[in-house]
Amino acid sequence: MVVAKIAPSLLSSDFARLAEECERMLALGADYLHMDVMDGHFVPNLTLGAPIIKCLRPHTKGFLDCHLMVSNPEQWVDDFASAGADLFCFHYEATKDAAALIDRIHAKGMMAGMAVKPGTPIDVVYPFASTLDQVLVMTVEPGFGGQSFMPECMQKVRDLRSRFPDLDIQVDGGLDPGNIEVAAKAGANVIVAGSSIFKAQSPADVIALFRKTVEA
Ligand code: DX5
Ligand code: ZN
Repeated sequence: MVVAKIAPSLLSSDFARLAEECERMLALGADYLHMDVMDGHFVPNLTLGAPIIKCLRPHTKGFLDCHLMVSNPEQWVDDFASAGADLFCFHYEATKDAAALIDRIHAKGMMAGMAVKPGTPIDVVYPFASTLDQVLVMTVEPGFGGQSFMPECMQKVRDLRSRFPDLDIQVDGGLDPGNIEVAAKAGANVIVAGSSIFKAQSPADVIALFRKTVEA
């Protein structure tokens, strides 16, 4: 059976109340806490880094799924490990030596994820898939919450799922109750959503619907 992992993106939360927002999401059924790290260089936006993860860590037992939209991700492995990140997901486009980076992430005791932007072909991931804990197929151009889901990215999810039946395949960007079925049918099982969860009247219902659709 496919196991769904629902990962609210805290980018849509009230950053002034980050710890409470994390606990609220876990209480409403979230599996992962998706932390969007942006450096103003790899993407045209600036968010948070390891110091904030470090401050947050004592306040939540939640799984900190850190999505690093940064140039030179190698530079931050040690800091995120000592801050208490559970998963370090870097962008394929941002590194010259993905194999070495995956090894370093694992050596530091974190799970390793690799993300690909919408324009990056999925076959770049294949040589690394057996050593990865998660692959993130972006469904918007990284940088901002609240953009529209790109259904054309689903062929990449299908191709990846057909080759790697047990891999955790994450989708991120514009996921909502109107497109979750397309993503789930393509083979995604780790669902990131910011706007559609945080702006919902009942975030718990949206989380439950995502889970039910993935596990159907
Ligand atoms: C975009 C981030 C996403 C974003 C998702 O660059 O990686 O995690 O917060 O937000 P929504 O669900 O609003 O598209
Ligand atoms: Zn993200």
